[in-house]
Amino acid sequence: MKLLVTGGTGFIGSHTVVALIEAGHEVVIVDNLVNSQRNVVTKIKRITGVKPLFYKVDVAHEKGLRKVFSEHKFDAVIHFAGLKAVDESVEKPLMYYRNNLDSTITLLELMREFGVKNILFSSSATVYGTPKRVPLKEEDPIGGTTNPYGTTKLFIEQILMDFVAANPGFKAVSLRYFNPIGAHPSKLLGESPSDIPNNIMPYISRVANGKLSHLNVFGDDYETPDGTGIRDYVHVMDLAYGHLLALKAFEFDHAYNVYNLGTGKGTSVLELVHLYEKANRLKIPYVIGPRRSGDIAESFADISKAKTELGFVPQYTVKDACRHAYLFEKKQK
Ligand code: NAD
Ligand code: UFG
Repeated sequence: MKLLVTGGTGFIGSHTVVALIEAGHEVVIVDNLVNSQRNVVTKIKRITGVKPLFYKVDVAHEKGLRKVFSEHKFDAVIHFAGLKAVDESVEKPLMYYRNNLDSTITLLELMREFGVKNILFSSSATVYGTPKRVPLKEEDPIGGTTNPYGTTKLFIEQILMDFVAANPGFKAVSLRYFNPIGAHPSKLLGESPSDIPNNIMPYISRVANGKLSHLNVFGDDYETPDGTGIRDYVHVMDLAYGHLLALKAFEFDHAYNVYNLGTGKGTSVLELVHLYEKANRLKIPYVIGPRRSGDIAESFADISKAKTELGFVPQYTVKDACRHAYLFEKKQK
C-alpha cells in the first residue's frame, strides 16, 4: 500500500515506518518536527535500506498538506501527529486543542476531497479515564479524561465516528495504545525527550546513564500488591507491528473500529525498576514520593480483540524493552 504517515519522525511513528517499509509498503512522512528530528529519516534508511519521502509540513496547515495529497495517491493514512505531554496540556489547553483537533480535521477534509478512504489513528488508553475494572476492554466506557491531552484523544475518536458515518465508504480505526516503551534493537531509533522526561522509561534510562540522580516513585500507597502504579508496558516495535496488522481492519465491514494495543499484562513501578536493573546489570536509585496528580492505580489491556481479529501477539518482553531503551540512551550525547 502507499501510506501517508503523519508524525512519522516521532517515537512511535518512526518505528512503525520501519515495520511498514520492511513489509513492502511505500511510505510518505509528514511531520513539522515540533518534537522530532529530520535525521530520523536517514536512520530509517540505515535500518531498512529505503529512504521514505519526507515533507516538513504542519498537518493543520491546509495549503502545505494539500500539496502532499496532490502529489501522491494514498491508499491509507496513519495519523500519529499530535502533541502528547500531559502536564503541558494542563498549562496550555488551547494549544493542545488547536494542534490535535485542527490537524485531524484538516487531514480528514483533504482525505475526503482526494478520496483517501482509510485512516488509522493513534488513540490512547487515557480515553478510559479511571477504569472501573481491569483488564480494559474496547467496549468499556470511555470519558472522564483528567487532562486536555486525553480529552483531545476522546474528541478525535468521536470526530472519526461522525466522519465515517457521514461519508459512506470511509473507514477509521482507533488504536488505543497502553504504555509504549523501548527502542529499536539497532539503537538508532528510540525515545529521547529534550526536557526532563515525564514518562517513566526515559526517566529511568537517564538515571541509568548518570544524567539524573534517582527515580522519584510517584506513590506507594495505591491498592496494588506493592503499592505502586501498575501499567501495561508494550515494546514500541510490537506496537509498530500492531499498525501493520491493523491495516487489515480496512477490509472488515465496520466503518469505525477500535483496538487496544498493549500486552495484556500489568507491571508495577517497582517491578519495572527491578526488571531494568536485571536487564542491564546496574542499580537504579529511587526515592518513594507522593502520588502524581491525575494518576490512576492500575491500567492494563485486554488484547483479545486485537489478537483474534488482527493476529496481534507481542513478541518482546518488558525486560527486552528495558535492555533496548538503555542501549539507545547510552548512544545519546
Ligand atoms: P512524538 O511526539 O514522538 O511523535 C509525534 C510527532 O508528531 C512528532 O514527530 C511531532 O513533531 C509531530 N507533530 C505534532 N504536531 C504536529 C503537527 N501539527 N503537524 C505535523 N507534525 C506534528 O510522540 P509519540 O510517542 O510517537 O506518539 C505518537 C502518537 O501516539 C501521538 O498522537 C500520541 O498522542 C499517541 N500516543 C502516545 C503514547 C505514548 O506514551 N508515547 C500513548 C498513547 C498515545
Ligand atoms: N512514574 C513514576 N515516576 C516517574 C514517572 C512515572 O513513578 O518519574 C509512574 C507513574 O506514577 C505511573 C507509571 O510510572 O504509575 C507510568 O507513568 P508514565 O508517565 O510513564 O505513563 P502514564 O501511564 O502516566 O501515561 C502514559 C502516557 C499518556 C497516555 C497514557 C495511557 O504518557 O500519554 O500512558 O496511554 F495517555
